Amino acid sequence: MRVRDPASLNFGIQLRERQLTIRKAKLTDVPEIHRLISHYAEERIMLPRTLTDLYENVWEFQVAEDEGSFLGCGALKLYNQEVAEVRSLCVDESRKSQGIGREITDELLDECEAMGLKTVFALTTSPAFFAKLGFHEVPRERFPTKVWRDCLRCERYTCCNEKAVSLELADRPGKLRDSAEELAEFSS
Ligand SMILES: CC(C)(COP(=O)(O)OP(=O)(O)OC[C@H]1O[C@@H](n2cnc3c(N)ncnc32)[C@H](O)[C@@H]1OP(=O)(O)O)[C@@H](O)C(=O)NCCC(=O)NCCS
Repeated sequence: MRVRDPASLNFGIQLRERQLTIRKAKLTDVPEIHRLISHYAEERIMLPRTLTDLYENVWEFQVAEDEGSFLGCGALKLYNQEVAEVRSLCVDESRKSQGIGREITDELLDECEAMGLKTVFALTTSPAFFAKLGFHEVPRERFPTKVWRDCLRCERYTCCNEKAVSLELADRPGKLRDSAEELAEFSS
């Protein structure tokens, strides 16, 4: 779990003291997670997920909240010992562009590192957001299990507007910086 103080967040208008908390989802978060994903699914920006699916897989989710208000969520799908997918990442419309999506994704990537994974990918209509976090666009065929399991069954398979993006955790931008700082400290 991470808690960020307001000074470190890029809020456009700061109406009051805010504190952003990123934490593992609880069963009681599921209705809010479902509401937000359904909102973006209606706009055809994300794929819908059923309540049953979300209750079954709630442990995959991190959520962002501010004083108990639900702000956004994101989940990890594990594929094998090395590969995971970031999915169902979304932030409430009223709180976009305030660094919340980045914080949720960072927490998911921390989880991936803690599990010893090597590669994280996403299928997204916002590849530019992921590029800011060090992901690169790749052919989706690099992740055949995803294509076989989800894409081939998707009604939008032939007219898909999502791009595949991928990050090697060893190349994660913050990680390279941290290692360089550790090395400098060690050699001084
Ligand atoms: C994509 C999404 C999760 C980003 O969350 P957010 O909280 O709005 O993004 P952040 O404020 O953390 O942005 C981090 C950086 O990415 C940039 N960014 C955010 N969304 C972007 C987009 N759609 N295109 C290009 N850049 C984007 C921001 O400008 C910011 O850049 P900076 O560090 O230079 O200031 C959010 O906009 C969203 O919920 N979109 C609808 C659902 C969706 O598209 N999900 C994608 C995953 S399937």
